[in-house]
Amino acid sequence: MIDEQVQKYSEELKKLGIEHRVMEHPDMVEAEKVQAYLNDDLSGSCPTLIFKAGDNFVALVKRGDVRLDNGKMKKALGVTNLRMANKEEFENLTGVPVGAARVFNSGLKTYLDKSIFEKEYLNGGTGSFEVTFKYKTADLKKIPGAAVVEVTDGGKARIFAGMRPTGRLHLGNYLGSAKGMLALQNMPEYETIFMVVDLHGITTPYDRAGYRENIRQVMLDYLAIGLDPEKSILTVQSRVPEHIELAYLFSTVTTIAKMSHLPTFKEKVKQYPEHVTMALLNYPVLMAADILVYKAEKVPVGIDQEPHLEVAREIARRMNQEYGTDFPAPTRFATKGEYVPSLSGEGKMSKSVEGSYINLTDDLKTVTVKIARMPTDMGGPGEVPKEGPVANIFKFMELFKPDKLEYYAGLYVQGKLRYAEMKDDLARAIFDEIRPIQERRTEIEARSGYAEKVIEEGAVKARDIAQITLKEVREKMGLNGILGT
Ligand code: TYM
Repeated sequence: MIDEQVQKYSEELKKLGIEHRVMEHPDMVEAEKVQAYLNDDLSGSCPTLIFKAGDNFVALVKRGDVRLDNGKMKKALGVTNLRMANKEEFENLTGVPVGAARVFNSGLKTYLDKSIFEKEYLNGGTGSFEVTFKYKTADLKKIPGAAVVEVTDGGKARIFAGMRPTGRLHLGNYLGSAKGMLALQNMPEYETIFMVVDLHGITTPYDRAGYRENIRQVMLDYLAIGLDPEKSILTVQSRVPEHIELAYLFSTVTTIAKMSHLPTFKEKVKQYPEHVTMALLNYPVLMAADILVYKAEKVPVGIDQEPHLEVAREIARRMNQEYGTDFPAPTRFATKGEYVPSLSGEGKMSKSVEGSYINLTDDLKTVTVKIARMPTDMGGPGEVPKEGPVANIFKFMELFKPDKLEYYAGLYVQGKLRYAEMKDDLARAIFDEIRPIQERRTEIEARSGYAEKVIEEGAVKARDIAQITLKEVREKMGLNGILGT
């Protein structure tokens, strides 16, 4: 049932001659979720943002996947002061909750960013979290007093991801994250930023003497995998101190209760009961800052990072509500290997669990021995188990040798599976996948000073972006001006 308010709004639109199709869905606040439910992404949406421009409030409709350029917006509106409406102002002006803004708001001057006309139809708000309208974009010009402007920067949507230098990269890091990084780096519509997150690596006990070298080794892994400084910004987190400042500012809108209840925090407390530090508690806040300092929208990480992304989205929402910033709600870019199991048959592949992983630098013999040690059973007959060690071996087959999966599953059902043959096949398939990475690594290692140069140059590019965000956040939080910043 569509509620009365939405029906009234639809009538209003009809009177104006604005074509729109009504689409109902479960109660959802985030645009990404609504769009995914409707089989679309942000490029098919047109959020409405409410701003205080000079002394007036205005509405801006833009396409969901483009970024607003504050400078262009001020120019187009002829104002020097511009900020997003806060929660109270928003709700007073629109009469609907934050996140549900309608495209047409009578009484508010409406600006339509050009980006919306690149699509014939876009999904937009209706005042309800259960109904979305598919608006005919050309018809939005019929909104009384609407003005078409060009206020988005035409810039590419950004991607951010990082890995801790806690050891060499393993197949879990590769399939769960690096493969996503590579895919996104090679899509021209994205600007990609990838870092070795050394400050996250020191939230648990670490090898201080070897740390610099570990950082360099992960950068070499990145380069060997195919991350390319010509296409992506590649650097080390601590070289961009803006991450830390933003994390501190974010901590002012984050509760201790929320952080201490995160499953990832509880796991680490169990693992390192002697090192339950503030840094550990703050881990997700720093991660939110890593992502949001670039206003990144997609994050290629494994499924284990989902709770941290939820924190990043919540922080973005809070900051936008409290301070009128325009942080996006970052979502995970998932890969086929979003969860790579441990070789031991229990849990996931992890650097901190000896015997659970295969490194990208392992040679064929090491891979073969590690796979040979994977626990098995009698090899059928019966259904292939859905959980446990045997399920894990089949999961590896699915990831590395999908063309033989059915063959071996068939043998298992008949009770004729010989694990030795299957494991040999699997070890070779894994090695075939990592061998080219190892060859590239040898080439890159030979280029003395190359990794250092990539890190230096990447840091400069990253800081250029990060400083813009920091300036904006400082301003909005009332921290600028006094000392001439
Ligand atoms: P880290 O170093 O623990 O892991 C790096 C990446 O590898 C993925 N991963 C896996 N994916 C699938 N199966 C597995 N068995 C597996 N093991 C590890 C992780 O999901 C991760 O994507 N918190 C991050 C580091 C970080 C970060 C960020 C990531 C800090 N700031 C900002 C993205 C954006 C982490 O756990 O890294």
